[in-house]
Amino acid sequence: MPEDLTVDASAGDLPEDESTFRKQPVSFVRRSGRMSEAQDRAWSELAPFYAVDVPRDVASTSVHPDARLVPAEVYGREAPLTVEIGSGQGHAIVSAAASHPDRDYLAVEVFRAGLARTMLDADRAGARNLRLVEANAPEVLETLLPEASADEVWVFFPDPWHKARHNKRRLVKEGFGATAARALRDGGVLRLATDWEDYALQMREVLDADPLFERAFDGSADPGSDWAPRFEGRVMTAFERKGLNKGRDIRDLAYRRVAR
Ligand SMILES: C[S@@+](CC[C@H](N)C(=O)[O-])C[C@H]1O[C@@H](n2cnc3c(N)ncnc32)[C@H](O)[C@@H]1O
Repeated sequence: MPEDLTVDASAGDLPEDESTFRKQPVSFVRRSGRMSEAQDRAWSELAPFYAVDVPRDVASTSVHPDARLVPAEVYGREAPLTVEIGSGQGHAIVSAAASHPDRDYLAVEVFRAGLARTMLDADRAGARNLRLVEANAPEVLETLLPEASADEVWVFFPDPWHKARHNKRRLVKEGFGATAARALRDGGVLRLATDWEDYALQMREVLDADPLFERAFDGSADPGSDWAPRFEGRVMTAFERKGLNKGRDIRDLAYRRVAR
C-alpha cells in the first residue's frame, strides 16, 4: 500500500504531485520528524486505549470507505461529541475533555508526534472521554463518523496555505460546509479560529453562503464586530501566540447547522 509522500520542507516548495493518491489535494504535509522516546512509549502504552484503529484506503492517513466509528461503542456511553480537526499537540481538546467529563471528544490529526503528546497529556489529566484518530480530517467527517453524530466540530488555526497557488490546499474552502454539516447534528456548532486575515475572510464567505449553516454569532457580544467573540473553550496555543506576537488579529467564527 502506498504511503503519503513526505515532503522535504527545506526544499522550499511542494511538489505538484504530492496528492498523487487522492482526488483532492490534502491540507497537510506529513512531517518526517522522529518521535522522541517518550512519544514512542506513549504510542505503545497509551494508543491501545486512546487511538481508534482506522481501516485505510489508498494512503496511510486515508479512511477506508467502509470504515465506521460507532461513538457509543468507542466511548462506552452516549454523550455529546466534540470533534477537533487538526488538533496539533492537543492543548484545546485535552483541556476541554478534562473539564467536561460529561461530554466525549475526538481529536483528528495526521501529525504523529502531536497525537503522542495529546495522549500523554490526556493520560496525565485523567481524561478517559477522549479518543484520537490519525487520519485526513475530511475523510473522517465524510465517512468514518456516522451522519449527525457530532455536537460540535472545531477547526482552530488550520494551516493557512498563504501562497495563492497553494490556497487550494486549505481545509475550509467551497465544499467544506457540506463535509462538516454531514457529521454535525441539527443545531450542532462549527467553531473556527485563525490568525490569517485572508483565510478568516474566506472561511466567513464560504460559510455565510452555505445553506446548511447559519451564523451562531450576531456581533452583540462585540458591537460593530462581524466576528464571533473568542470561544471561551479555546485555550491559548503556540500557534495563536505566534500570530499575536506578529501583531495579527485572531478571528473566531461560529456557525450552527440548520435542521435537516
Ligand atoms: C497550524 S496547526 C494548529 C494546531 C492546533 N489546532 C492549534 O491551534 O494549536 C494545524 C494542524 O492541522 C493538522 N492538519 C492539517 N490538515 C489536516 C487534515 N487534513 N487532517 C488532519 N489534520 C490536519 C496539521 O498536521 C497541524 O498539526
